[in-house]
Amino acid sequence: MRLTETADVWWKNAVVYCLDVETFFDTDGDGRGDLRGVSQRIDHLAELGVTCLWLMPFYPTPDRDDGYDITDFYGVDPRLGTHGDLVELITLAQDRGMRVIADLVVNHTSDQHPWFQSARASRESPYRDWYVWRDEPPPDADKGIVFPDQEQSLWQYDEEAGQYYLHRFYKHQPDLDITNPAVREEIMRVIGFWLRLGLSGFRVDAVPFLIDPAGSLDAADLPDPHDYLRDLRAFLSRRSGQAMLLGEVNLPYKETRRFFGDEDGDELTMSFDFIGMQRLYLSLARSDPAELVKALRERPDPPEEAQWGTFVRNHDELTLDKLSDEERQEVFDAFGPEEDMQLYGRGLRRRLPPMLGNDPDRLKLVYSLLFSLPGTPVLFYGEEIGMGENLAVEGRNAVRTPMQWTAEPNGGFSTADPNDLAVPVTEGEYGPEQVNVAAQRRDPDSLLSWIKQLALRYRECPELSWGKYTILESESPSVFAHRSDYEGGRVVAVHNFADQPAHVTLAVAGNGVGVRATDLLQDGTATVREDGVLELDLDPYGSRWLRITQLGDRYVL
Ligand code: NOJ
Repeated sequence: MRLTETADVWWKNAVVYCLDVETFFDTDGDGRGDLRGVSQRIDHLAELGVTCLWLMPFYPTPDRDDGYDITDFYGVDPRLGTHGDLVELITLAQDRGMRVIADLVVNHTSDQHPWFQSARASRESPYRDWYVWRDEPPPDADKGIVFPDQEQSLWQYDEEAGQYYLHRFYKHQPDLDITNPAVREEIMRVIGFWLRLGLSGFRVDAVPFLIDPAGSLDAADLPDPHDYLRDLRAFLSRRSGQAMLLGEVNLPYKETRRFFGDEDGDELTMSFDFIGMQRLYLSLARSDPAELVKALRERPDPPEEAQWGTFVRNHDELTLDKLSDEERQEVFDAFGPEEDMQLYGRGLRRRLPPMLGNDPDRLKLVYSLLFSLPGTPVLFYGEEIGMGENLAVEGRNAVRTPMQWTAEPNGGFSTADPNDLAVPVTEGEYGPEQVNVAAQRRDPDSLLSWIKQLALRYRECPELSWGKYTILESESPSVFAHRSDYEGGRVVAVHNFADQPAHVTLAVAGNGVGVRATDLLQDGTATVREDGVLELDLDPYGSRWLRITQLGDRYVL
């Protein structure tokens, strides 16, 4: 093992788990989850194999965008707990070998933030130019609206201020002007503050918007906006050598690659693979991995110590914005045909199991892909047990319902009256009676047991995260196979996207004499022929991971 594979580049082969404190576990019976609740359930995460816990915003908020509208970047919302509770949680997590990161949402504040309140009140306010103001909105004010169901413009007139302000998201989220050195300094202070409290980095919200100075009047005179991201990263690394930045960048691959910085990677340490995620859904809809393969072939390699974050679901709408209109329609037809399941004309507000008709084999296939595709897997709470959405809940919140711990009322999430829950529990086929942690942890065939096994094997195979991967040709169009090599180790992962069994032959070694293939997920057999070709059978929607070894190599567990 090389020195670079030591734990301080930990994000390279982490298992990231995102949760909303508000909907995870409620310890005081007020219907809202709390930080103490996450602490109490930390061993569920440890057992699952999580190595990095990503907390969605827990800062003080009027909660008009589920906490992404912040009134104090240094605070903890009293409804969720205190700084003390957070430090306890970080300590407990560390004891289980888990790091904690949190959302850094500094593209904008809430309009209730004291900075904005002061800024709008007077042109003389020291905070006035922390935001972006204009006397008249620019001609393209209606271009690039993120929430088209609620907003018609990126510029909002403020009576009190007598000017328009820029807001890329909701109008109650005015954008900060990051070209202002005072704002930049303050953001650094915020980063420094949370690192001191023990966070190991941040999921950075809306990175392209954050660094884009376009709203600023003198934008043309400004240097490369990536300089700012480089500065942020440099500051972060000075303060903590083990801290990371996981960026939300939903752009074409070539542009996303720029956010990793130069060859040594001096900007984001990780970036979500939005394109791969969207192509994966198209592949699933077609029972044909070709689109996923296309994405992987296009995907630039990150700098050596950076990493792609792979995911199949996050807390927002499942965006399909980078597919063509026809492709998006295909995914809508397959996985969300009703209008109520769709959002903003570009995404789905559904979780994976209902999209796949709760087919256990198909679900297992998708998670096997998530853990074996090159990158670091990022899970969204509830995925490990196959939770569904609640379409009765408005907008994106349909997938942010309470975690289902037991079959008890409220899914064991809270003792509050169901009418007092911050978000109602999912009902019916995907409700807590059918889908919960307690039942699945006792069932070796459950999705939870499968995901635990995948997490463990993924951690045992540095080839998958650190290695160089090669897409393997096979005669079956429904099969996706890839090989990952690292430091003499070799792992092959094979996935069948079709509902029919498949037989494939794959070139896994130059010469097959003395070569063995050992199944890592199941008790299976596979023959490597003398010409180095592996012969393999796959069940419908089957997945297999195999370690390829030479005679004389160490015995594979
Ligand atoms: C991206 C977040 O993922 C989303 O939930 C939020 O509404 C916007 N950024 C605004 O912060």
